[in-house]
Amino acid sequence: MKILKTVFTLFVSVILFTSCGGESKKEKNQEKNEANTNLTSDNNKPEKDDNLSRVVITANDAMKFNKEEVYVKAGTRVKLILRHIGKMDVNIMGHNVVILKKGVDVADFAARAATEKENDYLPEGTQDVIAHTKMIGGGQITTVEFDAPSVGTYDFICSFPAHYALMNGKFIVE
Ligand code: CU
Repeated sequence: MKILKTVFTLFVSVILFTSCGGESKKEKNQEKNEANTNLTSDNNKPEKDDNLSRVVITANDAMKFNKEEVYVKAGTRVKLILRHIGKMDVNIMGHNVVILKKGVDVADFAARAATEKENDYLPEGTQDVIAHTKMIGGGQITTVEFDAPSVGTYDFICSFPAHYALMNGKFIVE
């Protein structure tokens, strides 16, 4: 009888333990999601500023951005941070973020950019770009600051040769 009781207690504590574990994991994921979507969150108190929209985008060795859409507020200064979380060299798997003006043909722009290695893969003297980061390789981070353009939806891409088809998204000013 005593053994049965012990087994039962063990059983109950295992259930309690596992369910608690599951819940805290869920909470963590939720926190993570909030941090990702709330671009002007309080997570970074020193940079909390109503006039600043802070955007963090990561890119990896699988040629992907972590976001397909980013949101900023109209009339704010945008601080866009690009983190390359891969390991590959900038010459093989370089990434940048280029935000294009409205009406620019993305495929055409990417084709012109692809031949401009000497110019960080941007067409020299281009008027098609609202803002862009530097081209970076694995483990690197880069930041660009600019004034948010007027309310609307803009395309952003990585302009490294052949990347834009997989590496593109919408930069939304609201
Ligand atoms: Cu890229």
